[in-house]
Amino acid sequence: MAIIKKKALVIGAGTGGYPCAIRLGQLGVDAMLVEKDQPGGVCLNWGCIPSKALISATKLGHKAQHASHMGLSFAPPQVDMTKMQGWKAGIVKKLTSGVKGLVKGSGTQYVTGTATFLSPNRVEISYADGKPNDIVEAEHVVIATGSVPISIPGFAIDQVKIRDSTGMLDMDFVPEHMVCIGGGIIGLELGQTFQRLGTKLTVLEGLDRILSVCDADLANVVAKQIVKDGGEIVTKAMAKGYVERDGKLWVSAEVGGQIREFPADVVLVAVGRRPVTKGFGLEATGVEVDPRGFIKVDARQQTNVAQLYAVGDVCGQPMLAHKASHEGEVVAEVIAGHARINDARTIPNVVFTEPEIASAGLGEDEAKQAGYAIEIGKFPFAASGRAMAIDETAGFVKVIIDKADNRLLGIHVVGPEASDLISEGALAIEMGAYAEDIALTVHPHPTLGEAVMEAAKHALGEAIHIGNRRR
Ligand code: NAI
Repeated sequence: MAIIKKKALVIGAGTGGYPCAIRLGQLGVDAMLVEKDQPGGVCLNWGCIPSKALISATKLGHKAQHASHMGLSFAPPQVDMTKMQGWKAGIVKKLTSGVKGLVKGSGTQYVTGTATFLSPNRVEISYADGKPNDIVEAEHVVIATGSVPISIPGFAIDQVKIRDSTGMLDMDFVPEHMVCIGGGIIGLELGQTFQRLGTKLTVLEGLDRILSVCDADLANVVAKQIVKDGGEIVTKAMAKGYVERDGKLWVSAEVGGQIREFPADVVLVAVGRRPVTKGFGLEATGVEVDPRGFIKVDARQQTNVAQLYAVGDVCGQPMLAHKASHEGEVVAEVIAGHARINDARTIPNVVFTEPEIASAGLGEDEAKQAGYAIEIGKFPFAASGRAMAIDETAGFVKVIIDKADNRLLGIHVVGPEASDLISEGALAIEMGAYAEDIALTVHPHPTLGEAVMEAAKHALGEAIHIGNRRR
């Protein structure tokens, strides 16, 4: 057993840990990154990237099947799930091997092993290949251990019949029926993915509507699409368990006080994720966690134990890769002695449903609860020439401004390429922009981005391509 001295040790090479490690290397900090599994964490291996690959492949097939009115008719697609999975795996491999190279290139040491705290600044590393353990003595340790799916009683995950998102992303067949427990981000992204391949989708959501993180008018557009594509959304539905009968799984749920049964060939359990704070000796450090199990941090991502920091899913909502990366970079600069805090004004949120939903800043209710008198501008994609030309006219852009001075409070997009359109909104909010800043910026024509400009104009009562309310 060797004692290794480092200025910084990062535990976990997900989208929080690896950018932190790279930034530490760039800043000349003598650092080590330890990961027990593949580099890239959930996002690159079992989340964002593989899901987006499957989403884009199935969208392509679905769009081709709905192009006859454009004068293009195709035969029904031949779906080869094994090949699709192989293509997806190739993308994941390229990205994850790239991460190792980037970390090493920055000068930070990359180690595959399992870390366990012995004390706040002594961490034991054990190796799967039987090599003797090492002890790392680090001045600073960054905890970037991420999150895992929450499970519910009655649905033990076997990754065959009952799957979480990891198992669902590895499906090698197209199920006839799929039940999604949870109408949140994962349930709907993956539910619609298989729906586009012909699966009959049933979403069981405990609350009174799906996608409760989004404003209701945005979520409704996705709900309509799911139903249009032959799916069923059952709200106020608490899944209880399942039985196997006649070659099917029958999922029972309490809906409005009554038990109903829903057929499935596979069940996706997507009821949220929980932070990983157990199993690596965190108790030995005295780090405080909040009642929901997240590690408590301040604006420098520092815990109550001075030399320990936490970034990403393990230290709180929203559980998003880009939030984790941002926090990781902040910590690296703090450790390097820079005067840095995490003062992001907005963490944009994207849901890769059909159509996509993306938000930056406050929602309508949030803005009202914060005490603002608000004005709303909306521009429907049905009025956008570009949206018509790409045949994707569902949805709208919504801009929420402070009535007092027209400052932008929130920008929300449901519709084509919402995931890319939102970056303009995030920049605007980060810079403290006013509706006029977007409205007076010349946007190229014909583009979807014009809808953002028109929504800002609409909030000011000056939209050109739709009617305005008087302000
Ligand atoms: P979620 O929090 O988005 O949705 C879970 C849903 O399940 C909620 O609507 C909840 O009311 C419902 N629910 C809980 N228990 C239930 C029960 N027993 N029966 C029926 N419904 C129940 O969680 P999800 O979808 O698992 O995603 C986890 C996290 O992963 C998200 O918070 C998100 O931050 C992250 N993620 C982000 C993505 C993105 O940025 N595009 C993509 C995928 C995941």
